[in-house]
Amino acid sequence: MEQPTQSLKHEALLLQKELTRHNYRYHLLDDPEISDAEYDKMMARLLEIEEAYPSLSTPDSPTKRVGAPPLESFETAQHSIPMLGLDNAFNDDDILEFHNRTLKFLEAQNDSFKKEIFYTVEPKLDGVAVELVYKNAILTRATTRGDGITGEVITENVRTIGSVPLRLSVLSAKSIGTERIPKLLEVRGEVIINRKDFDNLNKIRLEQNEYLFANPRNAAAGALRQLDSRKTAARPLSIFVYGIGLTEGIEAKSQSQILQTLQSYGFPVNPLIREKITINKVIEYYRELEQKRESLPYEIDGMVVKVDDIALQNALGIKSRSPRWAVAYKFQAMEATTTLRDIIVQVGRTGTLTPVALLEPVNVGGVTVSRATLHNEDEIKRKDIRIGDSVIVVRSGDVIPKIVKIIESKRTGSEKKFSMPLDCPVCKSPVKRVEDEAAVKCINASCSAQLKERIKHFVSKSAFDVDGLGKKLVEQLVEREMVKSFADLFTLDKAKLASMERMGDKSAENIVNALEKSRNITLKRLIYALGIDHTGENAAYLLSERFKTLDTLLCASKEDMEIVEGIGPKTSGAVYDFFHNPDNIFLIKNLIDNKVTVVQSEDTSVKEGKEEDDKKRELNSIKGKIFVLTGTLEGMTRTEAKELLQQAGAKVTGSISAKTDYLVAGESAGSKLAKAQELGVAVIDEKKLISMVKG
Ligand code: IVH
Repeated sequence: MEQPTQSLKHEALLLQKELTRHNYRYHLLDDPEISDAEYDKMMARLLEIEEAYPSLSTPDSPTKRVGAPPLESFETAQHSIPMLGLDNAFNDDDILEFHNRTLKFLEAQNDSFKKEIFYTVEPKLDGVAVELVYKNAILTRATTRGDGITGEVITENVRTIGSVPLRLSVLSAKSIGTERIPKLLEVRGEVIINRKDFDNLNKIRLEQNEYLFANPRNAAAGALRQLDSRKTAARPLSIFVYGIGLTEGIEAKSQSQILQTLQSYGFPVNPLIREKITINKVIEYYRELEQKRESLPYEIDGMVVKVDDIALQNALGIKSRSPRWAVAYKFQAMEATTTLRDIIVQVGRTGTLTPVALLEPVNVGGVTVSRATLHNEDEIKRKDIRIGDSVIVVRSGDVIPKIVKIIESKRTGSEKKFSMPLDCPVCKSPVKRVEDEAAVKCINASCSAQLKERIKHFVSKSAFDVDGLGKKLVEQLVEREMVKSFADLFTLDKAKLASMERMGDKSAENIVNALEKSRNITLKRLIYALGIDHTGENAAYLLSERFKTLDTLLCASKEDMEIVEGIGPKTSGAVYDFFHNPDNIFLIKNLIDNKVTVVQSEDTSVKEGKEEDDKKRELNSIKGKIFVLTGTLEGMTRTEAKELLQQAGAKVTGSISAKTDYLVAGESAGSKLAKAQELGVAVIDEKKLISMVKG
């Protein structure tokens, strides 16, 4: 085979080095220097070279992250040291008992042991345990925990996880005094999927009519079990490491030192870990973590409490399948069993019919749950959910609870199968199944259920922002046929509004004033308010920035829209179709006839004084403030956001500290978000950022 030239060899090496560095900056520091497109371009070039000269394709090359040809099956491998499980503690008594037991055990071994025990505590991540083996700094094998003794070899899949180093490097050896890379290092950790990424993944699967994952853990396990690692590469997996197996060339004295060492080698270590604390602090921190639990970007199901000192760990030893020196202090379960009383069908803004489960109310992790989403009919069929079934419901963060499965053994035979109605439950017109989708839609544009939802959206905070026009009032207005279209809202007067249930003169007047104020609207808000398919706030912002006026947007072709960065074919198609539908042209004309005017920027002078002050304060507040950016932004790259902020007089830094004023968190924000939450730094999203900068 032809040998690569010296200069090609050099180019490949340089690309490998640079891509590794950029990968680390992106995944570990959350602080990329280059855009995704630039990264992809470098990766494409390296792939090209390595394809032509496979000898240059080393196992630690960043090209290994894109996946390898599919395997026939997984090999298995034995762990050098078994991967143990943990005993559980469910309350303070259990944890104190664990502490006393540990003390006694150590005292019995050593008469003079009177010392206090210090613990290192870590969030118990709800993912998949893996072991990564590094020989002479290179990731050579990755396995699942399996039965603790033997696991499946999933090296190719693990290599695709961006935050897993393919080669160890010493980044800040000063903290541990270990400047050498060990000959052998087995690292243990948990592979997870962030909640947001999990929701997106399921959303796509729902659209494609694929089986939905019950929780992020199952999604992570599914991704790691792919025989085709290119499929794994497409899944948003990440990892936090928390321990070691067999090692050669390093000597650890404590769990906290292990964690610091691993971090210095380039591994992601969870930011919510507390090192060397007393049992009282352990209990205190448990409460704190429990409070934070639902706002974290990933799921945790408890806290792992580990005796920090390795000498003590060794003295304590292990029982059959779990160590005596650690315990899992579990949180309340986020899942519960209850009965499915009925299934009702709701009609959304775009006409989609969604089945909703009515449940026997049940406490799930401290919240009473009586409804759960069922997504669509196919999902109900797939899970064979019947009315009267005993079901398992789970809750996660602030998303709507869902039914993960039914308990078949509890069936009595009296359960009833559900089928989707053939007519819209509200307007009774026939429903239609959307081609290639599992969704069933009511296609009657004047269906009152759809109209109610569209009007609610139209007056919502990010759209026309009509203060006082709440959901109940919108429902009444539609039911009484006083509002049949968006434009009708602007024909409402005090008398009409005051005739509504629970509506006083003063409230009616306030609403009339709020409607009056809302007539002057920015293009962005108007586009968003119209509720066009695939057109959220971000797309509305991008379109308004590009086309500036309503007239220009109305005249734009699909292609004109598609070339706007961040606008895909689905959005451009939907927006184009919307503005070329005669009913919608009439609707826009009607709005204009009712004095709705598109203005260049929000006229703060017509807003109430307080709001105006708030806005001014916000604008002034940007100057000199310290911002950190993390995650993927939708409408701009982080570099663009950085420039925007700098132009406004803000400072943008790479890492969170107590001095940081704002963290701008995009999609898949990870460790920085957790750190910000931990330090009490204000977290804002892209929308807020734009409003702060643009006013
Ligand atoms: S330590 C001997 N630390 O919990 C110590 N485990 O039941 C064994 N887990 O299979 C594990 N976060 O999947 C440890 N910070 C953490 C953890 C953690 C999650 C999982 C892990 C393990 C299971 C133990």
